[in-house]
Amino acid sequence: MAKNIQSIRGMHDILPDATPAWQYFEKTVRTLLNGYGYSEIRMPIVEQTDLFKRAVGEVTDIVEKEMYTLESRQDTEGGEAFGMALRPEGTAGCVRAGIQAGLIFNQQQRLWYAGPMFRAERPQKGRYRQFTQVGVETFAIAGPDIDAELIAMGARLWKQLGLTNIHLELNSLGTLEARQAYRELLVEYFSAHHELLDEDSKRRLLTNPLRILDTKNPAMRDLVAAAPNLHEHLDSESAEHFAQLQNLLDGMGIPYRINPRLVRGLDYYSRTVFEWVTDALGSQGTVCAGGRYDGLVEQLGGRPTPACGFAMGVERLILLMEAQGIQTPSAAPDVFLIMAGDAALRAGMAIAEQLRDAIPGLNLVSNCGGGNFKTQMKRADKSNAHFALILGENEVQRAEIGLKPLRGSGEQINLPISQLVEQLPLLMAAAQQQ
Ligand code: HAM
Repeated sequence: MAKNIQSIRGMHDILPDATPAWQYFEKTVRTLLNGYGYSEIRMPIVEQTDLFKRAVGEVTDIVEKEMYTLESRQDTEGGEAFGMALRPEGTAGCVRAGIQAGLIFNQQQRLWYAGPMFRAERPQKGRYRQFTQVGVETFAIAGPDIDAELIAMGARLWKQLGLTNIHLELNSLGTLEARQAYRELLVEYFSAHHELLDEDSKRRLLTNPLRILDTKNPAMRDLVAAAPNLHEHLDSESAEHFAQLQNLLDGMGIPYRINPRLVRGLDYYSRTVFEWVTDALGSQGTVCAGGRYDGLVEQLGGRPTPACGFAMGVERLILLMEAQGIQTPSAAPDVFLIMAGDAALRAGMAIAEQLRDAIPGLNLVSNCGGGNFKTQMKRADKSNAHFALILGENEVQRAEIGLKPLRGSGEQINLPISQLVEQLPLLMAAAQQQ
């Protein structure tokens, strides 16, 4: 027998027993984002590789090690061949789309998107090669008010989902110029202690020295702790922006911890950066992260435009919902329709369509694939429906239908088929009350 083909490591199916939680999450997040006046944007999953090199940064882990690139193809109209990549994140594509469509020319935008992202990381719990982000990006709003709004949206979402134990870590990286000056200081400091650096940090010293601050290596803890502090080297406007942001968060009663070591793994950030972190998921505890990226629009060819956003990892949030025992509303059918015999099948399929016409939102599952009464009744029980509607040859002859509550203690009753459209919604409502 041929060997079964398995899904690719780190790329998972979301099976039917898991989709209700996903749908609940998606609905909650969509309602929340609409409620803050954000509009949805949908971008392609594949973009030119150069977009991510220019936006995320050529020497970041994401671009250097984790990007899935596709064979380049000649454009059919004879244009130049270009490399393509599965998107590792959404900000770059969103900025590209915004510039291309003229959405961020002389106007504010508040946008959101949701969809799969791809990174060739080593898979583990909470870290996948295909994962889902819900991302939010805002354009042409320079002040800390929008940073605060984005953070408040996160806090509200956790509350609405019933999630606890998610903490906010906050930092400011200053302007790109201030960061550059700080970077030089760091290089000087770490070069003077070169013998204490691990291999990874030696490499980062040449490519992205700020990332050394992010090291998880306990042997380097003291060295990193004594490194120059970014906050002492912030430009005055960034320091003011950061102070105002804290003031707004205090005003809204949103707690945070200032973490001067929070530097983020993507190059486009300036000023505010933040992460929502939980310790309930092991090492992959960042459920949502983002910040300000005031230089990116210009860097990708648009007019200079301030921008700020975040993205959350949906798989991690769903894991957290499970870990915290959050119940999601069940999608059980209202009715399971049993049809035993040919005449019952013919009448029943027509009745099912009449009910769907008459009762908006009705969730009715018809028995398909035949089976005797007992088999069909088992399927009805398994479906978790509130009621079984029962149609056999006798019922068809008498123009009646049986209605049996499948939960609780109610008895089966028989109704004239002609009254079903009127009676079923009443019986369903009464059952809801119990
Ligand atoms: P990021 O920190 O790379 O930022 O990813 C955001 C979130 O996506 C993470 O906090 C995590 O929850 C989730 N995530 C990342 N990688 C994985 C993975 N391999 N498996 C599962 N979940 C993952 C960004 O992508 C930025 N574009 C965020 C942003 C938007 N900044 C400004 N605007």
